[in-house]
Amino acid sequence: MRTFLIAPSILSADFAKLGQEVEQVVEAGADLIHFDVMDNHYVPNLTCGPMICQALRNYGIQVPIDVHLMASPVERLIEDFGQAGASMITFHPEATDHVDRCLSLIKEQGCKAGLVLNPATPLHHLDHVMDKLDVILLMSVNPGFGGQKFISSTLSKIRQVRERIDGSDHSILLQVDGGVTAENIADIAQAGADIFVAGSAIFKQSNYQQAITQLRDALARVSPNS
Ligand code: DX5
Ligand code: ZN
Repeated sequence: MRTFLIAPSILSADFAKLGQEVEQVVEAGADLIHFDVMDNHYVPNLTCGPMICQALRNYGIQVPIDVHLMASPVERLIEDFGQAGASMITFHPEATDHVDRCLSLIKEQGCKAGLVLNPATPLHHLDHVMDKLDVILLMSVNPGFGGQKFISSTLSKIRQVRERIDGSDHSILLQVDGGVTAENIADIAQAGADIFVAGSAIFKQSNYQQAITQLRDALARVSPNS
């Protein structure tokens, strides 16, 4: 039986009451919290840094915090987020000349490590680092903004990465980020994803519990053998 994990993205939360927002999605059944870090350099938007991550921990948030770095350079941020309570840190290979070193830095912080591939980023970036990856995050929109439409060609990319993972000796989780909804989540799961990031599909709904339940109901209909 496959385990599906739901990761609400705080990008669509109300930042004026972030602690309560996160608390509410955790109560509603979130498995981890997706924390989007944008630097107005690697992507054309600016969000939040390690202080906010630490603030969530100080507020009492205990579920894993999944930090998605859309920022360059990444090295310093890895250390800072490691100290600020991150559980998992992912970054884009285009954002550094030193992918292998950055993956090691994340592990040294005691965090799970992963690479993020944009819609047009080829899979060869995974070739020599499979043994260092805990997660592979496939972007199903171009990074920078919430509320975009799922790029459907991502489905075949998910299938290809699923095959690579299954054909390797490593247990790596496959995460998908961007435009995930109750309507398409089953197809994304069927293609092979394990972790589903959802911003608007949760935080832009009036009832978080209902929104997460809808996502889980759709996942429950996915064949266990897929
Ligand atoms: C986009 C971010 C996503 C975003 C997803 O650059 O990485 O995590 O918040 O938002 P939705 O689910 O609204 O597409
Ligand atoms: Zn993200």
